[in-house]
Amino acid sequence: MIFDTDVTRLLGIDLPIVQSGMSWASSNADLPAAVSAAGGLGTLACGPMRLPDIEAAVAAIRARTDRPFAVNLPLYRPGADDVMDLLERLRPPVLVASQGGPRAYLARFQAIGTLCVHTVASVEHAEKAAAAGADALVVVGGEAGGHPPPDLVSGHVMLRAVKRALPDMPVISAGGWADGPGLVAALALGAGAAAFGTRFLTCPEAGVPQPYKDRVLSAGVGDTRVVGRGFGVIRALRNGFTDRMEALERAGASEADRAAVFRATTLRDVVLDGAVDMGKLEAGQSAGLVDTPLPAAEVVTHLAQEAREVLARLARL
Ligand SMILES: Cc1cc2nc3c(=O)[nH]c(=O)nc-3n(C[C@H](O)[C@H](O)[C@H](O)COP(=O)(O)O)c2cc1C
Repeated sequence: MIFDTDVTRLLGIDLPIVQSGMSWASSNADLPAAVSAAGGLGTLACGPMRLPDIEAAVAAIRARTDRPFAVNLPLYRPGADDVMDLLERLRPPVLVASQGGPRAYLARFQAIGTLCVHTVASVEHAEKAAAAGADALVVVGGEAGGHPPPDLVSGHVMLRAVKRALPDMPVISAGGWADGPGLVAALALGAGAAAFGTRFLTCPEAGVPQPYKDRVLSAGVGDTRVVGRGFGVIRALRNGFTDRMEALERAGASEADRAAVFRATTLRDVVLDGAVDMGKLEAGQSAGLVDTPLPAAEVVTHLAQEAREVLARLARL
């Protein structure tokens, strides 16, 4: 069975499966190269990467596959302009930008043939990105790991609201899909592909430490928390850090006090210092659906196979 959607056609991929950009986890060539080689769209997360490392990783992906891949950049990153200059020189097939407006980069990347996919978490931002000329959107729902929409509207509702507003816009839906039934659901709701973050977080290729992966594997669907509303809301696995943030919120602590605790730790502390108890263990609700750590190529094959089985079952209804 061939998957032929507006997104697979636009991006030139065989399967409507996108590996979400995840700082650290996909900030090396291994994960995106494996996903792209398997027929999905792998994404290099440039957010925490130094310029020479980005250049080397893009070269390594190209050495391992001739299939399309994406680079992701949160636009608030310090030095984002320098990264943009480098990426323009590297001419990636796809740029997935997040956390900012698209006008600053669209024209220059489209001029070099890079497809520009803008990440949004509201209908209003989707309409703005479409009006600015984005080629496609990643639409993030409240289930997502990392930065969900501040109002936590679920992906199921957000996706349909965006498709109602922009029926002709190719949309990649992100947040909570995790498996083949999730992929089919996203397609049924109007997406041309689903993006998977947490599902790829436990792959051997993902650049986060094993204790982090173990927490994802053992988590239930209710084991994430959303903290930091007002200054960079994140969804992360419950641990000492999220307990502390929630205690401050319950106690009515000032924004300055909450922000100080929120900003005192980063995903980097988890990755480089192993701070699994007091660091930001970013993960989505679908951590509760991930219990087998498969290599990335097998995840892609597995997702496609499960989706085919679901579609066959639906056809028999
Ligand atoms: C550990 C982690 C790191 C993330 N880092 C980024 C990032 O650097 N840039 C970005 O645009 N989104 C980032 N995200 C969000 C993902 O791109 C994606 O929207 C989300 O993981 C999808 O939801 P899911 O985890 O339920 O599949 C991150 C998510 C996680 C779990």
